[in-house]
Amino acid sequence: MAKTIKRIAVCTGGGDAPGLNAVIQSVVIASDNLGWQCYGIRDGFNGIMFPERYPDGGVYRLTRDKVRGIGHLGGTILGTTNKGNPLHFPVNMPDGTVREIDRSDELLTYFATHEIDALVSIGGDGSLTIAEALHRKGLRVVGVPKTIDNDLDKTLTTFGFDTAVGFATECLDRLHSTAESHQRVMVVEVMGRYAGWIALHAGIAGNAHAILIPEIGYDLDKVVAKVREREADGHLYSIVVVAEGAKAKDGELGLVAPAEVGHAERLGGIGESVAARLGAVTGKDTRVVVLGHLLRGGSPTSFDRLAALRFGAGAVRGLDAGQSGVMVALGINGVDYVALEEVAGRMRNVPLDCDTLQTGRDLGISFGD
Ligand code: F6P
Repeated sequence: MAKTIKRIAVCTGGGDAPGLNAVIQSVVIASDNLGWQCYGIRDGFNGIMFPERYPDGGVYRLTRDKVRGIGHLGGTILGTTNKGNPLHFPVNMPDGTVREIDRSDELLTYFATHEIDALVSIGGDGSLTIAEALHRKGLRVVGVPKTIDNDLDKTLTTFGFDTAVGFATECLDRLHSTAESHQRVMVVEVMGRYAGWIALHAGIAGNAHAILIPEIGYDLDKVVAKVREREADGHLYSIVVVAEGAKAKDGELGLVAPAEVGHAERLGGIGESVAARLGAVTGKDTRVVVLGHLLRGGSPTSFDRLAALRFGAGAVRGLDAGQSGVMVALGINGVDYVALEEVAGRMRNVPLDCDTLQTGRDLGISFGD
């Protein structure tokens, strides 16, 4: 029989996403209703690992007052980080090299010192992998699926994705008129890492003429053909959406910075190279817009807010029912619990036979293949 919960902690890790504050609010209120105390850990796990860096000790009591009115705000009141994963913690060696070490055992002792009985870990693949490791070592943990990229498995959606797609779609709507006025090709690069969900959904909703996603190695000649086909029909402008992880068939990933110890590689730049080549081959005036971190900011849509609130309350209900090592997920019939080991380290790509992709093809959108 699981020990009775008196205190839980909540933390947010990885890139921020609209809806994080709504999850925190929901966790705090739902746990308070059960008579539990809730503590927030600052900046992923940094707050509990490096208390000396924080005037309040890095772990602080989250009362209802602290979360009142935050549900509609972007970002996270706890702060976040996508560096210094405790399972692969970078350490400077005397010979000047940097090595990764696993500090999870040490991390567990900090939870014990704070008398934390359970953790709600809100994050993407990286944070959920850490959560799974902590669960295996004995901490009660429930994960909450966050990412604008929507690339987590076993959930219909992650919170943050709808907001990112909505904003990208609005940007595409705005770009149509200026592209048409100037008879230009506008190339719009969107985030998403190695998955094309944002590009696909926003591209179709925003009436793009070509969409390049990591799941389909593209042939630029096919995009050129689309631009020319439109010209032949009297449409002298085109909108091309490029996912940051898209690659030409046999081509290279666009990278801003390679992976280094303690930090994953940073994607970006493919929009620029697609635009340069499209401009050179078609002879058309071409411009690039990189939406980048704008997709991570702003207030969550009502869909993301509701999903976030449901996930937060669902995580607390799960812990109360004795669950651990699970992630709350959106299933067909509502919030569900799936084993973290079925999610951690498994990326969900756009299936090539999904109806959304087929819809794009039916509408005449080029996917560069
Ligand atoms: O995973 C979310 C995400 O926004 C990706 O789409 C993007 O590649 C990455 O994070 C950017 O991270 P950073 O905050 O390090 O620029």
